Amino acid sequence: MTEEDIRQRLLSAGVENARHEARLLAEALTGDRLAAAVERRCTGYPLQYLLGEWWFYRESYEVSEDCLIPRADTELLVEKAVKLLPPRARFLDLCTGSGCVAVSTLCARTDTHATAVELFSKTLELAARNGARNGVADRMEPLLADVLEAPPEDLPQGGFDAILSNPPYIRTDVMPTLQREVQYEPVAALCGGMDGLDFYRSILDRWGKLLTPTGFLLLEIGYDQGEALCRLGAERGWKTTVFKDLGGNDRVVLLEPNSI
Ligand SMILES: C[S@@+](CC[C@H](N)C(=O)[O-])C[C@H]1O[C@@H](n2cnc3c(N)ncnc32)[C@H](O)[C@@H]1O
Repeated sequence: MTEEDIRQRLLSAGVENARHEARLLAEALTGDRLAAAVERRCTGYPLQYLLGEWWFYRESYEVSEDCLIPRADTELLVEKAVKLLPPRARFLDLCTGSGCVAVSTLCARTDTHATAVELFSKTLELAARNGARNGVADRMEPLLADVLEAPPEDLPQGGFDAILSNPPYIRTDVMPTLQREVQYEPVAALCGGMDGLDFYRSILDRWGKLLTPTGFLLLEIGYDQGEALCRLGAERGWKTTVFKDLGGNDRVVLLEPNSI
């Protein structure tokens, strides 16, 4: 199968960026495996899972059906963290998935340490492998825990300079309307409850206690959640700033103590 054959096949199945995807598939696979992957891609199965790796920020990541595919939108969260973390910071990455937020931040800020928290053990193992793949395993502690519950007691109260998180934030009623590729990603990585805000409430109310007095939270949000996060933050006494992504949509919220 030539690259042009693949492009034509993908185009006929309505795949956007068929030329780019044909090149990536032809470079990664050969023979029957390539033909099978092309057919699977034509059903809407994500390119990234077929390749088994994807790129985020300045790093490459192993990806599988056990994790959300790292999104370019999330790079804004890493950019802000890299700028704002104080020297030698210890930070939490809640809902770490592939580990991309923790790992890319650790790579850019070699003076920092992270605890990467995830609910599913297979996903956490993947995050740990991505830490090793990118040379930051010695500064990244994987932790199996439920972010919708209180943090494990052995985590030090006041022990972290920042909480970073890209939690599940899609409203339950929006889930069935997602594009076909997204339907193959883990539901648990996407759904944030009836109003999409379950994880933000738990992070602020339960995990915020782990921050130092000057500690801050940087959270990815949905394009229509800026106002809601400002309200949740204000109700709890946080100073809130919303940052927009390159598309002009609200994407990251910074919550800092009011006294700063
Ligand atoms: C939106 S994905 C983000 C993954 C990664 N941080 C990123 O930006 O690509 C959310 C992650 O939270 C995990 N998760 C879901 N429910 C959780 C819970 N109750 N506690 C901890 N992690 C959870 C999912 O398994 C998934 O890996």
